[in-house]
Amino acid sequence: MLRKISTIDFKSSNTTSGKTVLIRVDYNVPVENELVTDEYRILKSIPTIKYCLDQGAKIVLMSHMGRPKGKFDSKYSLIPAGEKLAELLEMPIKFSEDCISEDAIDVSKNLKDGEIHLLENLRFYNEETENNSDFASQLAKHGSIYINDAFGTAHRDHASNCGITKHFATKGMGLLMEQEMKFLSEKLSNPLKPLSLIIAGSKIDTKISVIENFLNIADNIIIGGAMANTFLLAMNYKIGISLAEKDKVNVAKKLLIESSKRGANIILPIDFLGEINSFGSGNIIAADAKDIPDNMICEDIGEKSISMFSDIISSSQTLLWNGTLGVAENPNFAVGTNRIVDAIIENQLTSIVGGGDTVAAIRNYNDSLIEEFSHVSTGGGSCLEMLSGKKLPALEMLKNE
Ligand code: 3PG
Repeated sequence: MLRKISTIDFKSSNTTSGKTVLIRVDYNVPVENELVTDEYRILKSIPTIKYCLDQGAKIVLMSHMGRPKGKFDSKYSLIPAGEKLAELLEMPIKFSEDCISEDAIDVSKNLKDGEIHLLENLRFYNEETENNSDFASQLAKHGSIYINDAFGTAHRDHASNCGITKHFATKGMGLLMEQEMKFLSEKLSNPLKPLSLIIAGSKIDTKISVIENFLNIADNIIIGGAMANTFLLAMNYKIGISLAEKDKVNVAKKLLIESSKRGANIILPIDFLGEINSFGSGNIIAADAKDIPDNMICEDIGEKSISMFSDIISSSQTLLWNGTLGVAENPNFAVGTNRIVDAIIENQLTSIVGGGDTVAAIRNYNDSLIEEFSHVSTGGGSCLEMLSGKKLPALEMLKNE
C-alpha cells in the first residue's frame, strides 16, 4: 500500500520539534544561462513542501538533473533550481554542493524547524543510477522520514528512489505523486466512458505499448503526428515525402488488426496541411489523405480531421492526450494541436495530458489554458510507462507491507 503524506506525523514524539523529512523531487528542468526556463516541475513540488513546512518539519530535498555521467559538471548543477524554488517560496534555501558529504549530512542534522536544505545533483555520482546500496544508505542519513514526490523519475530503479526506501520505517508519497496516481491510475482504471486517447508524435516505438494497453480500455484511439503517417502506409496510402517509420509499418498493421478485434476504434487523420518539396519551403498546401502529392510533407492535420477529432472529443467523457498533432513548434503547423486544445476545454470533460512536448505546445498556444485541464502530468517516460500498464519500480519500492 502506498502511504499518503496526510497520514504521517511530522512531530518528534517527546519534543515539539519537527522531524527531518527527506523528499525526492524531480527538478530535472530546462536551464539556459544558469536560469530555469520552465519551472513547471518546481511549482508542482511546492504543495508537498508547504504541507511539510506547515507541519513544522525540517526539509531536505534531493533530485537529479540531466545525465552528467557520474561527475561534477556545472551545466547540470541544481543551483538554478534552488534559486527558482527560493524565489517561488520567498524564503532562503540552504544548498550543499555534494549530496553525501559529511558536511552536507551535518547541515541536514542541524536544520531548524521550517528550514529547507537542497542537495546538489545526485547523478554527480554514478552510484545513484547504479542503485548502489552504500550510496543509498549515506543519502538516508539526511532524514528520518522519506517522501517520494518525483513522479517524473518513478520509472527509474535508482538509489534515491529505490535502494533508499529500505532505510525508512516511515515513507510515503508526496502530494504531486498522489495527484499523478489519482489521474493516471485510478481515474483510468474505472474511467467515465466514452474514453478517448489521442496519441501522437514522431515515434511509434515509444508509444506502441500505450496503444496496445488502451486497445482494452479506450473507445477511441486517435493517432496523429508523424506516427499517423506510418499507420497510413500500413493501410496502403501514399504519404508523399512525409516522415514515417517504414520499419514499423508491420507493427502498425498488427495494431490495426488488433483494434478491429478488440472493438477500440483507431482513427487516423483524413486530411493534412504540409509543405511542398522540403521543410521550411514555405509552399504550404492542404490535401486529403487519399490524394497526397508525391512531393508533399504532411506537417499538421487539416480542417476535416480537426472537425472529426473535435466531434469525438465532444462525445467523450474522459480524454487522455500525449503528443502533438503536427509540428507544433512551427506556428503554421500548430493549428491542429491548438484547435484540439480548444475542443477539450470547451467540452469540460476529464482531461489528462502527458508528455513534455504536448505540455509545451499548450503553453505556447496560451499559457493560462494549462490550468483548464483536469491533470497535466510532470512525467515523460514515467507517464508513458504507467499508461502502458507497467509497474513503476520507485512506486513498488515505496509500498508499505
Ligand atoms: C525526465 O525528465 O523524464 C525525468 O526527469 C527522468 O530523467 P531521465 O530520463 O534522465 O532518467
